[in-house]
Amino acid sequence: MERLKVLVTRRWPEAVERALGERFEVVLNGTDKPLSQSELATAMAEFDVLAPTVSDRIDAAVINGGDRCKLIANYGVGFDHIDLAAAKAKGIAVSNTPGVLTDATADLALTLILMAARRAGEGERELRAGKWSGWRPTHLIGSALKGKVLGVVGFGRIGQATAERAHHGFGMTIAYFARRPSAAAEALDAEFCPDLEVLLTKSDFVSLHVPGGGETANLIDAKAIAAMKPGSYLINTARGGVVDHDALAAALKSGHLAGAGLDVYPQEPQVPEALLELENVVLLPHLGSANAETREAMGMRALANIEAFAAGEDLPDRVA
Ligand code: DGY
Repeated sequence: MERLKVLVTRRWPEAVERALGERFEVVLNGTDKPLSQSELATAMAEFDVLAPTVSDRIDAAVINGGDRCKLIANYGVGFDHIDLAAAKAKGIAVSNTPGVLTDATADLALTLILMAARRAGEGERELRAGKWSGWRPTHLIGSALKGKVLGVVGFGRIGQATAERAHHGFGMTIAYFARRPSAAAEALDAEFCPDLEVLLTKSDFVSLHVPGGGETANLIDAKAIAAMKPGSYLINTARGGVVDHDALAAALKSGHLAGAGLDVYPQEPQVPEALLELENVVLLPHLGSANAETREAMGMRALANIEAFAAGEDLPDRVA
């Protein structure tokens, strides 16, 4: 039987690349350089399966680049970089890798909460610049977490895992904004806030866990930021497009917000210039799922979807 032709757009963990190679005719990206839009479009004509990541823009022009590809097996849980309507119109299935990166991403949200609250980035920069003059009672004073309110925007797997860590690990009080109350809230003594503005007004820390895309674009806009409690913190491990970064920079500059911790940006790998100049924002390069165990599990999950597709079975993680 002829083996499916699979294009992997970036370097994947070695064990996954090996497993893919054993089962399919795979073209890997040894250079790890992003493919151009026209290379991606050409791939639709030459491969049965395209295996992209969040760093690839799989728009309608790419999807309409050819008729051979019938599966887009995304390496990652978020799929706002893929035009699902265009894929559907061409009869192309799309899968993602849910579940396996929940803990890693929640760990990173806590990393950002702690770094922002305790001014860790600022301190490290000061020390490395040779500007640390020694211990003193008033040096780089941050905020405690215990007893503070963490407002979780989006209470899916990652939002819940972040809330669990913050509540059980750090003694934070949890409030959450979601479409409907969650069964997971009881164990966390978490308060359901169906009104985003109410959540923003009462939270000392706000952590974003909604999917990206049209529905959540600029959800945290200038008005939402103005509604946030003075001296509070904004944490984003979701998608950059959820936040208006000009409004965020202005609020950080004016002191309305005490700090922010960001892992994602609207036009990655570009980082909004206004943020780079500020001390009170922690800026990480989209590291949410970046631990060895998680990245391998993500690849194996993508592989499971490709295998199901090859066998003519239902995809375990079909999103379109
Ligand atoms: C995802 O999976 O969507 C992350 O943003 C990358 O790990």
